Amino acid sequence: MDAPRVILKADAVTKKFGELVAVKNVTFEIREKEIVGLIGSNGAGKTTLFNILTGNLIPDEGKVYYKAKDITRLKPEQRVKLGISRTFQLTSTFDELKVIDNLKMAYYKIHCPSSLLNMCLSRLDSVVSEKIESCLDTFGLRKIANRRTGEISLGEKRILEISMALITDSEVLLLDEPFAGLSEAEIDEVLAVLKEHAHKQTIVIVEHKISKIRDLVERVGVMVEGEIIATGRIDEVLEDPRVRRDYWRVEE
Ligand SMILES: Nc1ncnc2c1ncn2[C@@H]1O[C@H](COP(=O)(O)OP(=O)(O)O)[C@@H](O)[C@H]1O
Ligand SMILES: [Mg+2]
Repeated sequence: MDAPRVILKADAVTKKFGELVAVKNVTFEIREKEIVGLIGSNGAGKTTLFNILTGNLIPDEGKVYYKAKDITRLKPEQRVKLGISRTFQLTSTFDELKVIDNLKMAYYKIHCPSSLLNMCLSRLDSVVSEKIESCLDTFGLRKIANRRTGEISLGEKRILEISMALITDSEVLLLDEPFAGLSEAEIDEVLAVLKEHAHKQTIVIVEHKISKIRDLVERVGVMVEGEIIATGRIDEVLEDPRVRRDYWRVEE
């Protein structure tokens, strides 16, 4: 059997902020339809690497490839069009809108050219695409579809954000700390949604504690002080002496 194709790759990327080298010569491959984790303590450089993959930061050195195409200098919007979408570490929904309208906004933003956006938005109430309907069911959002987004729980909001990223038909979804600020019950709800989506799309999850994602991801990269010190299956990586020494001490 052929090995799964590499879909997204950071190749020897380095990013400095003044004197600080936040990401040091990192190579990290993400394979088609896998669910992969990027773990490391706070300040390890995870979000910086994540931003290099999404186009929110341009590396000082190294390249980023998507399906073997060099995308190092492409803007985030251009990457979204290619099929790479993301959620933010802090929630990024419109609180004044209903849940369903946030989903529609996310859908139209991608599917309507910008010059037509106003026209599309004016049709928001009359056009409810099949896509949005199926999204409400897939993510269990139907029961809160007409609630104002500002009133739903943080867990529901996180699921809404993930569904807003997935409705763009992206091939790769990058999530930066999707469990931040959630209760244990809410984490379980988000985990269930992600498990449901595993292998339908490529999913990359940044998380500082391995315990949250160990049942979810197939492979992890472990970051310490800007470097990836190990990559592989979770059980293999946890046995790695460098991980035990440099990462494990930060787990409780
Ligand atoms: N825009 C920035 N300007 C200066 N320093 C930054 C910036 N972003 C991140 N850093 C620093 O880079 C290091 C890595 O940060 P980050 O990538 O956010 O880590 P993580 O997501 O693993 O917690 C930290 O020391 C952080 O303070
Ligand atoms: Mg971070």
